[in-house]
Amino acid sequence: MEYVLTATKNEARAGSYYDKIAAFYDLTFKLNGYGRSLDQYLANYPLPVSRGAKILDAGCGTGLLTLALLRTLHFPVSITALDLSATSISAARKAVDESPGRTRDVSFAEGNLLSLPLSDNSFDLVVTSGALEYVPLGEGMLELARVIAPGGHLLHIPCRPSAATTFLEILFRFKSHPRQAILSHTKDHFRMVHEYRFPPLQIIGWSKTAMLAQKT
Ligand SMILES: C[S@@+](CC[C@H](N)C(=O)[O-])C[C@H]1O[C@@H](n2cnc3c(N)ncnc32)[C@H](O)[C@@H]1O
Repeated sequence: MEYVLTATKNEARAGSYYDKIAAFYDLTFKLNGYGRSLDQYLANYPLPVSRGAKILDAGCGTGLLTLALLRTLHFPVSITALDLSATSISAARKAVDESPGRTRDVSFAEGNLLSLPLSDNSFDLVVTSGALEYVPLGEGMLELARVIAPGGHLLHIPCRPSAATTFLEILFRFKSHPRQAILSHTKDHFRMVHEYRFPPLQIIGWSKTAMLAQKT
């Protein structure tokens, strides 16, 4: 299987690979306890946002991270959930509509995270998990930094090199970026606040970390 570069800055193929595998991805990541691990991390390390914050989920997929934000932020926020895959966005919209709780301010957009249809400095927080692995890291990081307001934050949940990640790379046809490259590109625009390792007893801990950084 080869690496799927989903997009370049100027061109995103109409149909993303995830249009074909969204349901399989969603099932796999529900079975591996990803949502529970996100909830626990977000409860232990509350995000630096307040009521009314504007949040972008870049590469939202079927909405698993957006849903974790909605479960763990106990005040109203405004979330834009963007993905290249129309099928994934439909699944995310359905999951948000069916999720319990207060009225949600979540809007969905089909788009390429390398050329976001969004203004400079317009978000307090950008979250992204498993999407930068499909694009050149420096370009993706530059574009995410562009839309974050000065002092705002990036929560990046990348895959880290491990045996479990190699398995996921084959299954979902992405390429994880080396930790040093992530740290170096993060430093171009942000100061690192923390790097979190999910506990090894949580399945997601075998392949992922969470990095919170503040735009400088
Ligand atoms: C591994 S899934 C992660 C989904 C979600 N963030 C999560 O945590 O479950 C990767 C997602 O990134 C999306 N993606 C890949 N390249 C993208 C791009 N250039 N712009 C926007 N979304 C992209 C895919 O369509 C897919 O839905």
